[in-house]
Amino acid sequence: MSGKIPRAFIDDLLTRVDIVDLIDSHVPLKKTGSNYVARCPFHNEKSPSFSVSRSKQFYHCFGCGVGGNAISFVMEFNHLNFIEAIEDLAAFVGVSVPREVVLEREAVESRNLSEVYAVLQRVAAYYVEQLRSSVEGKSAVAYLKARGIGAEVASEYMLGYAPKDWQGLENQFPRQELLAAGLLVTHENGRVYDRFRERVMFPIRDKRGRVIAFGARVLDDSLPKYLNSPETEVFQKGKEVYGLSELLAKNGRPKRILLVEGYMDVIALAQAGIHYAVAALGTAASRAHLDLLFRYSSELVLCFDGDAAGRAAAWRVMDAVFLSLKEGRQVRIMLLPQGQDPDSLIRSEGAEAFVERVASAHALSEYFFQHLLTDVSNGDIEGRARLVEMAQPFINKLVEGVYREMMQAKLNALAGLKVAEVSKERPNARQNMPSSNVSGQMLGRVSSARTAVALLLQNPDLVDVLEQKKIDWQLLDFPGKSLLFTLMHKIIEGNPANTAMVLELFRESTEYPQVLALAQMDLQLPESGIRLQFIGAIDRLIEQASEKLYTELLKKNLTDLTLAEKEMLKKMRINN
Ligand code: CTP
Ligand code: MN
Repeated sequence: MSGKIPRAFIDDLLTRVDIVDLIDSHVPLKKTGSNYVARCPFHNEKSPSFSVSRSKQFYHCFGCGVGGNAISFVMEFNHLNFIEAIEDLAAFVGVSVPREVVLEREAVESRNLSEVYAVLQRVAAYYVEQLRSSVEGKSAVAYLKARGIGAEVASEYMLGYAPKDWQGLENQFPRQELLAAGLLVTHENGRVYDRFRERVMFPIRDKRGRVIAFGARVLDDSLPKYLNSPETEVFQKGKEVYGLSELLAKNGRPKRILLVEGYMDVIALAQAGIHYAVAALGTAASRAHLDLLFRYSSELVLCFDGDAAGRAAAWRVMDAVFLSLKEGRQVRIMLLPQGQDPDSLIRSEGAEAFVERVASAHALSEYFFQHLLTDVSNGDIEGRARLVEMAQPFINKLVEGVYREMMQAKLNALAGLKVAEVSKERPNARQNMPSSNVSGQMLGRVSSARTAVALLLQNPDLVDVLEQKKIDWQLLDFPGKSLLFTLMHKIIEGNPANTAMVLELFRESTEYPQVLALAQMDLQLPESGIRLQFIGAIDRLIEQASEKLYTELLKKNLTDLTLAEKEMLKKMRINN
């Protein structure tokens, strides 16, 4: 895979794909009025609030707020990145993806990467072979057996064995790729040797199942107990979790994902029939980890060993948790008894008891406040003040919404504050974004600029109204001007046929979330009223901006005015 996908092809693809057919092939749709509806595939619901519009080539869920065009749907539904989604859609309509010519150097780099992936895959297979058939491998098989791991799980996780050999890999695989894959160590004296020796090998795979690194455990008590691949071009620790690919192979939409601490915990849980566990790679779970996992499940249970280190780790992950939480996502915290990890616990208690523990893990709010209240007491003013000081920064990280309100209310209650005292000040308050289910009855309360942008997004052919109005974009100023202006230009330039295509013009821009929300805003206007409404909104904007400008100009000294301003003032005097 190389080269950029030409813009024209993406437009062409969005023209060929009918979003109704596309979504209907994944989620059966029912026609109601001019739209198609279904129960939302992105959250659990009893009655359908997921709606697909053929004219806009756009989907939207009134329940959970997701929305987008055909590309967004394929990305979300199949957990693909942009390029992968384009390839998927192209296959859906039966065309192949053209690529723009790439620079020589880029081509070489991407070829190298695929060779790095290839060597990692072959080395993993070599380690498996060593486990199964070499004399030395027998000790590793015995080790796994002693820990209760059977052949089936071993093969599912592609467990292997790295023999004692210092030059085992170099004799069989190209050195350049081995180095790039992090499989060799270069000694000070320049000699190069195998990084992993005499260890059980745990291949780490990315979400697409490609081997990208290894974890490696000794067979006895020697140290270090685990060795891991260094970060390489294909492996970034903070972004990958162990066991995700194996989990997805079993179930692409798990009800929940359990995040544990160790490789062997994942393996032991799988052996016990619990196939929804993954492990962070010897680091604290990061926000990237959580966001990755939330792509596949709406509930994460974070499981920590029952020692001091485990409890400290649980608290350390709170930053990431509060940042990644939003509507429809749930985090629970599971603290194991002293001295236990999932592997040991499942062997002493059995799978059923463990599953029960998972089911009764703490709600995040419960864990959060309990933890704080073990450190400070809310029995006196000092304690309560300290409580607010410690908790508020976390709550400020939450996105606006019901959950944040409730956490705030709980903190206020614990601290004995009246609601108004704390919620008045919200240092982190986000800009008021249009909520996705603003209805037509609210049109009067939505600003003219937002109405205008929403209407134009949803009906790009309205752009001719703006072209005809000859607006003096330089002199006039109003809130939302830059977005309206950008949108107008993009539409004139790209000539998108529908909302789906307009969205595509913004995908890479920081304005995308805002544009997406406005594209979904339900203005509840009859088809015949749209153009008039738009003209009205634009006229109001111009009028308000002109009035503002007029009063500003009047305040200035005549000699300070630019020529354009003088012209403007003259024109406006006549009108006023
Ligand atoms: N780890 C590591 N390097 C170490 C020790 C630990 O990378 N020297 C990481 C590994 O990913 C390991 C996890 O931290 O799986 C948890 O470590 P620990 O609790 O010490 O090991 P266990 O998973 O319990 O391993 P085992 O049961 O095999 O002793
Ligand atoms: Mn263990």
